[in-house]
Amino acid sequence: MDPFQAGLAETIPALKAMKLQKKTVVASRRALETLRSSQPAQASQPAKPSQPAPQPPVKEAERMHVKPSSQPMADLSSITTLDALRSAALACTKCPHLVASRNGVVFGVGNPKADLIFVGEAPGADEDEQGEPFVGRAGQLLTKIILAMGTSREEIFIANVLKCRPDMPDGVSGNRKPKPSEMETCLPWLRRQIEIIQPKCMVALGATALEGLLGVNEPIGKLRGHWLEFQKIPVMVTYHPAYLLRNQSISEKRKVWEDMLLVLERLGRPISEKQRRFFTASAE
Ligand code: URA
Repeated sequence: MDPFQAGLAETIPALKAMKLQKKTVVASRRALETLRSSQPAQASQPAKPSQPAPQPPVKEAERMHVKPSSQPMADLSSITTLDALRSAALACTKCPHLVASRNGVVFGVGNPKADLIFVGEAPGADEDEQGEPFVGRAGQLLTKIILAMGTSREEIFIANVLKCRPDMPDGVSGNRKPKPSEMETCLPWLRRQIEIIQPKCMVALGATALEGLLGVNEPIGKLRGHWLEFQKIPVMVTYHPAYLLRNQSISEKRKVWEDMLLVLERLGRPISEKQRRFFTASAE
């Protein structure tokens, strides 16, 4: 990689992280001139007079010219703030195939001091586009559940086990489940997020999140409604909102809601009569 591209590969993720954090960069005119004059010869050729043909969207790996790393994940324990962890995660190149296909890393969103973390499996197409977990159809249902619990996306934290969208064959739409090996590679990021945030409890959404987080391969129907543990933090497992979208029966919605009531109790939050009776027999 030539020095210019190497510099870009270092700089772009850091600038993206600053943009996400709404930080501004102050640069002198002289620094900008120096940067401009240090572009490679090809970039400083005079522009061709004809209009360039429209280009297909450029994936992150092509934009950044990143050579994916085959090194083991660096020790993240020296990173002590969520902002610093985000900057490091956004530059992750551990999974070459995901770096090549992703628009960006979907780190997670919410309160760095949240008492509750929701954990999903992996970003889908909408999340990859917007850089935020759970913003598609399943995400909108999750947001409704969160609001019904009397809290908000801003007050809690939402993340996935896998931070990049699982790649799909060219021309194939939809999403695929993350592979266990992908989740295992990515887990250190989530583990560090949890260590920094120190929530009182967590919710694992669906069997894949459960498998990625705890290595447990059991049906949700068997484990939901009971507390498990991840690094001494209580974990409630419940159905993924995408499952509720596929299976519209009130009885399944009620099970998720009962799990959320257990979460509210565990957090010591007040539960109103209306919340308790959300899915009474008369609702069927
Ligand atoms: N499903 C997930 O598990 N995570 C997302 O971010 C979106 C959908």
